[in-house]
Amino acid sequence: MTDERDLAELAWHLRLFGQFGAAGISGDPAWRRRAGDVHASAPALSGAAPTAVHPPATRETLDEIRADLGNCTRCKLHRLGRRQIVFGTGNPAAELMFVGEAPGHDEDLQGVPFVGRAGQLLTKIIESIGCSREDVYIANVIKCRPPENRNPEPDEVASCEPFMLRQVESIRPKVIVALGTFAAQALLRTSDPISRLRGRLLHYGAARLIPTFHPAYLLRSPERKREVWEDMKNVRAILRGDTRA
Ligand code: URA
Repeated sequence: MTDERDLAELAWHLRLFGQFGAAGISGDPAWRRRAGDVHASAPALSGAAPTAVHPPATRETLDEIRADLGNCTRCKLHRLGRRQIVFGTGNPAAELMFVGEAPGHDEDLQGVPFVGRAGQLLTKIIESIGCSREDVYIANVIKCRPPENRNPEPDEVASCEPFMLRQVESIRPKVIVALGTFAAQALLRTSDPISRLRGRLLHYGAARLIPTFHPAYLLRSPERKREVWEDMKNVRAILRGDTRA
């Protein structure tokens, strides 16, 4: 029987196929042929030429994804003052993954996500549930610092988020914590702000997804820390295998 979880999983697979270049899906038998096959002339639902889906037979490693990112020039951020790409840090087999927005000044200097003031608060949040930064994996939607720490722009998100999604697919964490609006929107394909999404226990493929407030927001609004603590208790319960969570 189809339930909410099956639908979430299906949506996740379709998104992943999109990352591999599929323009759509169809029940037409012609679609079972590959682009290189003789007679391959399947129509795409969107009207665009179909692209065959060739997902990698084995799971990509983080090193392979990093190598593909290279010295990225896919969006304008590479010429707007970035010092280095901030790919991600932590355990490649982590059960718990945090996704933030974009590197700031300190992260751009050190090449590591969440090392500035917001990062120090994130470290405390991680430690509050008995984990360390080394246990978890931390990445951002955007890998390069936007100038003056402005919000990422839609074209920048569009170029960069596939790499974050591939990181998630490589790590296959049990729980993903989306820190703030940009991470939650990228993972959930929604335009809802974090204020609307927070407090919900969602699915991302086989993982649970918990949207919560960004630590930089907590620095400005410390009275919201209580809600993040509630979210982190859910994270801890899921990691412990508590089925009520
Ligand atoms: N804010 C983020 O979203 N990511 C970082 O790495 C640092 C600050």
